[in-house]
Amino acid sequence: MVNGKGRKALRNHQAMNNKPSKLETSQPRDQVEPLVDRLGRVHTALRLSVTDRCNIRCFYCMPTEEVRFKPRGELLTFEELERMVQVAASLGITKVRLTGGEPLVRTGLATLVRKIVAVPGITEVALTTNGLLLAEQAEQLKAAGLGRINVSLDTLDQTTFQRITRRQGLDRVLQGIFAARQAGFAHIRLNTVAVRGQTEKDIVPLAHFAREHDLDLRFIEFMPLNATGHWEKSDVLTGAEIRTQLEAKFGALIPVDRLDSSQPAIDYRFTDDLNNHQSDPGDVNSDDTIPQDKGGTDRRDRGLGQIGFINSVSQPFCESCNRLRITSLGQLKNCLFSSVEWDARKLLRGGASQVKLQQLIRDCVAAKEPSHGIGSEQFNKPKMAMYEIGG
Ligand code: GTP
Ligand code: 5AD
Ligand code: SF4
Repeated sequence: MVNGKGRKALRNHQAMNNKPSKLETSQPRDQVEPLVDRLGRVHTALRLSVTDRCNIRCFYCMPTEEVRFKPRGELLTFEELERMVQVAASLGITKVRLTGGEPLVRTGLATLVRKIVAVPGITEVALTTNGLLLAEQAEQLKAAGLGRINVSLDTLDQTTFQRITRRQGLDRVLQGIFAARQAGFAHIRLNTVAVRGQTEKDIVPLAHFAREHDLDLRFIEFMPLNATGHWEKSDVLTGAEIRTQLEAKFGALIPVDRLDSSQPAIDYRFTDDLNNHQSDPGDVNSDDTIPQDKGGTDRRDRGLGQIGFINSVSQPFCESCNRLRITSLGQLKNCLFSSVEWDARKLLRGGASQVKLQQLIRDCVAAKEPSHGIGSEQFNKPKMAMYEIGG
């Protein structure tokens, strides 16, 4: 399971375990031992949750009953978040993705983006958002140096949106997407959670919409996190099933070469070109209350969006996982499904040194399990829901 690159990193890691850590902030980055786990997976991506709060209540993410969010004082401050990024970057983390809850409900998020963008070694700062507050914030986020935006969107139908999110707001999400485009964000990606019996009829309209607006679209398999507490394997509408449905409508999907083998999605392109493609108005949501894209660039110049599948249940990608997570409460997690946490907040608030924080991160990564094991007898459903961990 360990690849060649991983084996080399693992040897380095094992050798390093026999001598005291020499890591200091001043150490040149090319001399830093990679953040590597027991399987040789080199960790370069950090998912940083900035809040557990959210302005909607998606059924696959939040419990049905009243949600108790944590008091503000328990969340990491911007300074603490920045410090964690600095420490992680000193260990070879290059990409940071801001998550939540809903990250845009955290006041002044653009200020945090600006701080993280400035951290030496960080090459990309991205955001996963539900889009509701994006129209108001897209320009400041762009100006702060945010690189990419993924927007959660499961349906184009107002009633279904309300059923899934238990709130109103589809129009605002769409306005947010188009505002992000106008602010200059390219390759905006839609994340669609697929749940059997709930979202089948949304697949083709979303694909039409994504093509029309040159958005990337990714279908994510429903995962057993602790939202409503109900999850059966049979609830998972698999990527393979969705692909079949899409190919019946659009023709064969062509795999796109993976530039980054650690990324979880398998991406495709449509066979035909939008110029030749006659979209079927019967499938597109024709609701004229839905805001329209006023994006500046001619879509033909931008190329078409890709369609991808995050088959986290039917085709786990743990083998190449390069992600480390920090919850909004400052707890390090090495996996979405791990119940163990490493308390960075305690160290941060106790005045810990850089070396102590680096060691905490190394310990967390070193303890990572080979895979989540969903569907196996050993699998323990996490006690936390996505909003508490970070999407
Ligand atoms: P890109 O950088 O655009 O590839 O984004 P991403 O897929 O890394 O991030 P995004 O937040 O858009 O992820 C979409 C969803 O994929 C998440 O909300 C999760 O549901 C799922 N996901 C992301 N990373 C992981 C992971 O490491 N493990 C599992 N099991 N699911 C993940
Ligand atoms: N299964 C799959 N994805 C989930 N998300 C939240 N809960 C789940 C779940 N149970 C993802 C959605 C959303 C992101 C923030 O988290 O993709 O876009
Ligand atoms: Fe990584 Fe855990 Fe997701 Fe597997 S389930 S890809 S190990 S975060």
